[in-house]
Amino acid sequence: MDKIRYGIIGIKGTGRYHIQFANKIEHIELTALSDTDEAFLNDRSKELGVQAFRDYRDMLAGGIVDAVSVVTPSHLHYEMGMNCLQAGIHVLMEKPLATRLSDAETMVKLAKDNKLKLAVMHQYRTYRASQILKEVIESGLVGRVLRVLWTWHEFRPESYFERDMWRTTWKHAGGGITVYQNIHDLDLLCWLIGRPVTVSALIANQLHNNELEDTVSANIIFENGAIATFQSSINQPKGYSVRQIAGEKGIVVIQDAKSLIQDETDEILFGKYEDSLNHMASNYKDSHRQPEISWQAYKLPETFPGKTPPPPRHKFVRLAKRIIRRLYHTNPKMDSNGPHITGWPTDWKEPIGQWSVMIDFTDSIIYDREPLTSAENTLPALELANGIILSALRKKTVDFPIDRDEYDELFNELMNGKIRVPHKR
Ligand SMILES: NC(=O)c1ccc[n+]([C@@H]2O[C@H](COP(=O)([O-])OP(=O)(O)OC[C@H]3O[C@@H](n4cnc5c(N)ncnc54)[C@H](O)[C@@H]3O)[C@@H](O)[C@H]2O)c1
Repeated sequence: MDKIRYGIIGIKGTGRYHIQFANKIEHIELTALSDTDEAFLNDRSKELGVQAFRDYRDMLAGGIVDAVSVVTPSHLHYEMGMNCLQAGIHVLMEKPLATRLSDAETMVKLAKDNKLKLAVMHQYRTYRASQILKEVIESGLVGRVLRVLWTWHEFRPESYFERDMWRTTWKHAGGGITVYQNIHDLDLLCWLIGRPVTVSALIANQLHNNELEDTVSANIIFENGAIATFQSSINQPKGYSVRQIAGEKGIVVIQDAKSLIQDETDEILFGKYEDSLNHMASNYKDSHRQPEISWQAYKLPETFPGKTPPPPRHKFVRLAKRIIRRLYHTNPKMDSNGPHITGWPTDWKEPIGQWSVMIDFTDSIIYDREPLTSAENTLPALELANGIILSALRKKTVDFPIDRDEYDELFNELMNGKIRVPHKR
C-alpha cells in the first residue's frame, strides 16, 4: 500500500487541521469526512470533492477508507475507536485516547489482535525542545535522572468552556485540566523519564463554574527512582512555566517554557556538574562545599537555520544543533526506520507537530512499524492521569499499576455527582 485512503471523523474544531494536514501528505488520499453538523459537512465535502457521512459507521462500512482520524469530543473516542478497529481500519485518535485507562487498554488489545495501527495525537513529543530533552537524557548527558520539576500554566476564561459544553463535564470531557490539557505533559514526562510507580496528588476547581478540576499538583515517583513534582493550572496567564530535569551528572532547564501548546523558540540551559553527584557526595570533605556547574545555553532558532552553522564549542550545544538540523533538513518523507519523526514540513513557516504525527502514523502503516505515538506507548500517561484523580479524590497515595475497577467506580461517582472536585469560588 503506498496511498492510504483516509477519513476524518469530526471536522469543525481541531478536525479542520487534520483535513489540512491530510491534504498535504503525499501518501494520503482524503476520501471521506464525517460530522453530525450536516450543513457544515456537506459544504466541506463538496469543496474537497470527498464523500460525506453524517453517521461515521456508514463511512466504515463503505470500504472507502483504510485509516481515519477521530477528532470528536473525548467521550466518543472509545466507542468510535472500537468500531473503526472492528471494521479493520487504522486509527489516529485525538487525545485523550479514552477517558478511562480500562477502555484505552481494550482498544489497544483490539488493535493488536487485528494487526492495526492505533496512534494518539501526542504531538508535543515532536516539539524541538522535547526532542532535545529526550536526546539529552538518552545520550547520558545528565546521567541517571534523580529529580524533575515541571509546570504548565495558561489562562482559560469561562468563555472557553461556554463555547462547547462537552468540555465541562466528567461524562463528556472525562476530566478537567489533567486529562484534557495535561495529558500531553504527562505523556512527555513518561516518554522522557519512564513509567510512574507511585503518585500523590491534589486537585481543585478554584475559578471555574463547572464540575472539573482547573488546578493540579502531583508528586510522582518513577520506576528509575526519579521524583517529579508536577503543577498545572488554567488560572494563571502563560509565563514562567518551568522544566528542570536533574541527573547525577548535570541538569537541563527551561526557565520560561514557551512551547506549552505549540512548538516555540525556547531557551534550553544545560548545567554540567564538575563531577558525578555520586562521587562528590561520597568524597567531599567540606560539608558545605557546592560543586561547580558550567552552564551552556541553546536558544531554538526562530527561522529555518542555515545549513552550515558555525562549529559549536560545547557538547550540549552541538547535540542541540544536531537535532535541530536533523529536524529542519529532513523533508518529511516515507521512512521505515521509526518510530521517530522524520522532519518538519519545510514549506510551512512554523514547525507543526500534529502534521509530523500524522506523517509518522501513515509511515507506520506503510512500513508496518510501531508509530512514534502508538496508543500502547502512550498508556502510561493516561494511567498517570487516572492515578492523579484517584489519589486526589480518594485522598491517598496511589501505586501503579492502578486498580482499574477502583478508578472506574470513582469515575461513575463523578459522573453521577456523588463525589465532587473540591471547589473554592
Ligand atoms: N492534540 C491537541 O493538541 C488537541 C487540541 C484540541 C483538541 N484536541 C482533541 O480533539 C478532540 C475534539 O476537540 P475539538 O476542540 O475539535 O472539539 P469540537 O467540539 O470543536 O469539534 C468536535 C467535532 O466533532 C463533531 N462530532 C460530534 N459528535 C460527532 C459524531 N457522533 N460523529 C461525527 N462527528 C461528531 C462535532 O460536530 C464537531 O465538528 C477532543 O478529544 C480534544 O481533546 C486535541
